[in-house]
Amino acid sequence: MNGEPVFKRHRESGQVESLRIPKEPRNKVTVVLGAQWGDEGKGKVVDLLALDADLVCRCQGGNNAGHTVVVDSVEYDFHLLPSGVLNKKAVSFIGNGVVIHLPGLFEEAEKNLQKGLQGWEKRLKISDRAHIVFNFHQAVDGIQEQQRQLQAGKNLGTTKKGIGPAYSSKAARNGLRICDLVSDFTVFEEKFRVLAGHFLTMYPNLKVDIDNELQQLKVYAERLRPLVTDGVYFMHKALTGPSKKILVEGANAALLDIDFGTYPFVTSSNCTAGGVCTGLGVPPSYVGRVYGVVKAYTTRVGVGAFPTEQDNEVGNLLQSRGREFGVTTGRRRRCGSVSPACPSFWMCSILYAFIALTKLDILDTLPEIKVGVSYTVDDEPLPSFPANMDVLMRVSVTYETLPGWCCSTEDVRCFEELPSQAQSYIRFIEDFLQVPVKWVGVGKSRESMIKLF
Ligand code: GTP
Repeated sequence: MNGEPVFKRHRESGQVESLRIPKEPRNKVTVVLGAQWGDEGKGKVVDLLALDADLVCRCQGGNNAGHTVVVDSVEYDFHLLPSGVLNKKAVSFIGNGVVIHLPGLFEEAEKNLQKGLQGWEKRLKISDRAHIVFNFHQAVDGIQEQQRQLQAGKNLGTTKKGIGPAYSSKAARNGLRICDLVSDFTVFEEKFRVLAGHFLTMYPNLKVDIDNELQQLKVYAERLRPLVTDGVYFMHKALTGPSKKILVEGANAALLDIDFGTYPFVTSSNCTAGGVCTGLGVPPSYVGRVYGVVKAYTTRVGVGAFPTEQDNEVGNLLQSRGREFGVTTGRRRRCGSVSPACPSFWMCSILYAFIALTKLDILDTLPEIKVGVSYTVDDEPLPSFPANMDVLMRVSVTYETLPGWCCSTEDVRCFEELPSQAQSYIRFIEDFLQVPVKWVGVGKSRESMIKLF
């Protein structure tokens, strides 16, 4: 592009050496991913790592996810904004793999501004290739859920934030992107009317106030323009430029991944490591350390198979002590035992460099703790993760029961001061997964993250 040679052909051997590929990737990205069904407490781990990050990115999902970060007793909720936006020295970036509902984005920023989040617009960049979630995508999400309920007797339990319909528009190649919105508005308007018309044909009962939404979008386009950047070029510069700490904040989690999760009760994006590459334009060799966030027990919001669910007193206790209600929808989460034997963990544990084990304090009152250690179907051990949800619904779990510690861990700040039973529980999970546990969470605040090494 700039006239410099991009490869060198050796005269005698005829071999070609590319000059474009750096010998050693320069600024590798650190990634934080959820290892269960979401709500593991990724927000707090990201916040911890974001303290000394230069760039914090979101690569997938939309405002269906919700991170909570508590700083100086102030609780910030993030849905679309990378939670790294709290770090005044870092740049935050929303990548092309994210789908953005603009009223949602500005509302979220406004709410956090009231709590003290100053100057976020100066620290945020948005990829021009990110797709837009429109109000009609959200309305369609609701209609589709109703239809599923009527036709099949059950819905997917989506957050009705329009994420699925927006990703459908992207895959159907009639979606609209941020680059469309900030270009010629007349052209954008035409495309918007076509897209809205398409949904109106499919869903005759859909109510769309086209003119009103267009008026709103025109205002957003002006506010957004200074934040929009060529995301691919932006990431290329960040990866290959001067030394930088780059953090990628995963939303949702492994078991909600559209390809590897418990389909169809999943989200519409790749929330495992591949989503980092496609959702930001990061070459695989630039993916550095991947931190898996595991909650000390398991929760799941909405419907779908959950082999270690404790639909009993223990589950109720975890639900109330852990305040297991969705940040986005307020729905009650189902609770159960942690299951390192869950075959999706095998897949993920290969990738994870370290584990952050959160919410250990919620187990403080349990006299004993059950851990799912193996799965069988029709008395046959499961060799791999069943693709078919009907099979997963039928699995039996074998548990190992470990002693509880029955005392508070909330004020503990180092591993050695944890009760011996809690230490054994942590080591058990670590040994089972063969991935070291680096942090243990015993409370909501930044300070309540015990660093093991
Ligand atoms: P998603 O992206 O929606 O999956 O959310 P998330 O993984 O970021 O989880 P979230 O930030 O919603 O965390 C869940 C809740 O757990 C929040 O209220 C956190 O403040 C809280 N939390 C995180 N870690 C701990 C912990 O170690 N102990 C306790 N008691 N609460 C914690």
